[in-house]
Amino acid sequence: MTYLAKRLSQIKPSPTLSLMKQAQEMRERGLDVLILAAGEPDFFTPDWIATAAKGAIDAHKTKYTDVVGTPALRKAVCEKFEKENNLHYTPDEVIVSTGGKQVIFNAFLATLDAGDEVIIPAPFWVSYPDMALLAEGKPVFVSCPEEDGFKLTPKRLRDAITPRTKWLVLNSPSNPTGAIYSKEELIALGQVLLEHPHVLTLCDDIYEHIQYTGRPFETLASVEPLLKDRVLTLNGVSKAYAMTGWRIGFAGGPLPLIKAMGMIQSQSTSNPCSIAQEAALAALSGPKEFLGDFRASFQGRRDETVRAIEACDGLTCAAPEGAFYLYVGCKGLLGRTTPAGATLQTDAQVCQYFLEEALVAAVAGEAFGLSPYFRISYATDMKTLVEACRRLAEAIKKLK
Ligand SMILES: Cc1ncc(COP(=O)(O)O)c(C=O)c1O
Repeated sequence: MTYLAKRLSQIKPSPTLSLMKQAQEMRERGLDVLILAAGEPDFFTPDWIATAAKGAIDAHKTKYTDVVGTPALRKAVCEKFEKENNLHYTPDEVIVSTGGKQVIFNAFLATLDAGDEVIIPAPFWVSYPDMALLAEGKPVFVSCPEEDGFKLTPKRLRDAITPRTKWLVLNSPSNPTGAIYSKEELIALGQVLLEHPHVLTLCDDIYEHIQYTGRPFETLASVEPLLKDRVLTLNGVSKAYAMTGWRIGFAGGPLPLIKAMGMIQSQSTSNPCSIAQEAALAALSGPKEFLGDFRASFQGRRDETVRAIEACDGLTCAAPEGAFYLYVGCKGLLGRTTPAGATLQTDAQVCQYFLEEALVAAVAGEAFGLSPYFRISYATDMKTLVEACRRLAEAIKKLK
């Protein structure tokens, strides 16, 4: 279509969303498709959070707020950073946006000139490259193989940095692998970053509360305070508090960056929803015990699914430390032939085969920049997970 802007030719719809669409269409045709692609907890938002939102409506808190979030919510965000991350930000150094996504979008738009490079360790969350591209940046992918725990090493980081590097993106716990950077690993990456003062780092900590290590969560600006004035620490209520639909994300960072991001937000969406902000305030300042229950539930599902996947001939999967995804290796299936006579050559073909033969939807690794793998989300009930793994095993048995 000729009237669309050229910048659109650079990006594609989120591959996870397009797979969902295909699986939904199959469901509408009456097929019992099990979808293991959810990027959100299947729990309800806790009651007292929903009640706070209802109270906000009744109290007529339905007007514009400060563009970058209400003072009360920004204060609560500062307290969260102080208490949970040992990070000191003032309310001016904090922005609240319409989801973590808008935080990243604001940050890239505020800083990237055409051709500026964004280092994205692969496998990566599918939205980083497209957001960089929309802001005219250039994604630079760095493969982080399974032998390295799917994590960026100081050497790979050093090799990737050029004079055009503007950002490094670090996501821990990771979507799609669940990998978590330890304090020592962050310190080692921090040493490289200290050598390159022109590089900003986006620490996407949105899965902070979903980790099974028993160790405290670590984030770069806290473990290497010398970097704090060029780190944007991103978090939000979506994943931890089962609040994906409320659309509240936030970040702490250096004042000039936060101010620029606020200016962009002021000319696009303005403040995030006033009612959702009241809900997020209740989430951040309310009880936290339920987070342990969510975590325990995820951990049980993770263990069960890893065990079932590992039992499948041709699939490999180590138990990840965090988030609610498994990044399953499917190298062992490549070269095998389907009952219809097709030879499986890529992870995308493996996923297509699983969708058609097993009626199980999982997302191919090529979407996340590292093949041959596929991503399973275990943010769904145990019954579905057990049945899905049974079907995958059956479908695998039919391959020659
Ligand atoms: C790694 C990562 N960062 C950020 C986000 C964005 O979260 P939000 O729903 O708050 O925009 C997601 C959501 O899938 C994610 O997986």
